[in-house]
Amino acid sequence: MEMVHTIQTRITKCLGIRYPFFQGAMAWITGWEIAAAVSNAGGLGTIASAILKPDEIVDEIRQIKQATTNPFAVNIPIRLTGSKEAVEVAIAEKVPVVVTSTGDPAIYTEKLHNAGIMVFHVAFSLEMVSRCNDAKVDAVIIMGSEAGGNLGPEELTTMVLVPQAVQKTRLPVVAAGGIGDGKGFLAALALGAEGIQMGTRILATRECTVHARYKEAVLRARDTDTTVTGRSTGLEFRVLKNSLSQKVLEMERAGKDREEIDSVSIGGLRRAAEEGDVENGSVMMGQISGMISDILTVKELFEKIMINASQRVSEISRFF
Ligand SMILES: Cc1cc2nc3c(=O)[nH]c(=O)nc-3n(C[C@H](O)[C@H](O)[C@H](O)COP(=O)(O)O)c2cc1C
Repeated sequence: MEMVHTIQTRITKCLGIRYPFFQGAMAWITGWEIAAAVSNAGGLGTIASAILKPDEIVDEIRQIKQATTNPFAVNIPIRLTGSKEAVEVAIAEKVPVVVTSTGDPAIYTEKLHNAGIMVFHVAFSLEMVSRCNDAKVDAVIIMGSEAGGNLGPEELTTMVLVPQAVQKTRLPVVAAGGIGDGKGFLAALALGAEGIQMGTRILATRECTVHARYKEAVLRARDTDTTVTGRSTGLEFRVLKNSLSQKVLEMERAGKDREEIDSVSIGGLRRAAEEGDVENGSVMMGQISGMISDILTVKELFEKIMINASQRVSEISRFF
């Protein structure tokens, strides 16, 4: 008989979903297909809008509405040009949730709330948590620097940031960065979070449409295989160590300016995600890649996380 594990936090309750598991938006990668798979498996799927034109965002939203009746989110990085149009689209298409990132949550939250849309904001620091309080978002996603993709300049870790964020806000906190299994989920709950967001672990799922060579690179990666580029230019990204990241780091050490560095890295994520060029592309992934060794369906992944987390609870209790 299948064991049914259930869990309730403010995150599952406010969304009416089975598991407090968010799929992080990943530009060039997470379209409606993976987002629908996640929402159908009981989590919250997210469409990345970062590189899409307004009509493409409309198309993604209409597709996901055909594929799931469960809640889903659209990610809108505030700082990108085009965020205003993306917000208009989200309102016109009546999406249930918008996850805003990289920017001030005060800018769009009230407008989205007035349209009946729930707003979650991604924060890298306590200063941003305060702004989330002021903007009255519905939940804060705390992202530590173990994560893949764009990092906060201070590179605070999930371990230290989540409990401090929980102290600083009454809003539900979702932990992101370095989480991909039951142990990580349980640790996030222990730190006071009420949900988790995963990016890298989701790359290695059957339903993820990223190029197969990108998935293989996640499986192959070991503990020391990621690095951070962009520290000299203020645009920090955690990526796989490869020819491109080596070249960028050499340019940074040589004091090259942002324009020159951009000229070699531009289009890097597309090259990796769509063409599968894992040597000359920007293969963004987090440190948790060192622990990922199998491709699962999203449903299998979520069930495994739930089973392992509850087993771990009983294993830990013997220490007390
Ligand atoms: C390839 C890649 C692309 C990403 N793109 C975005 C994005 O467009 N918007 C965003 O808010 N976060 C983005 N992220 C961050 C993820 O949504 C998520 O928070 C992060 O991956 C969680 O950490 P993990 O990789 O350790 O699971 C990206 C991450 C990766 C790995």
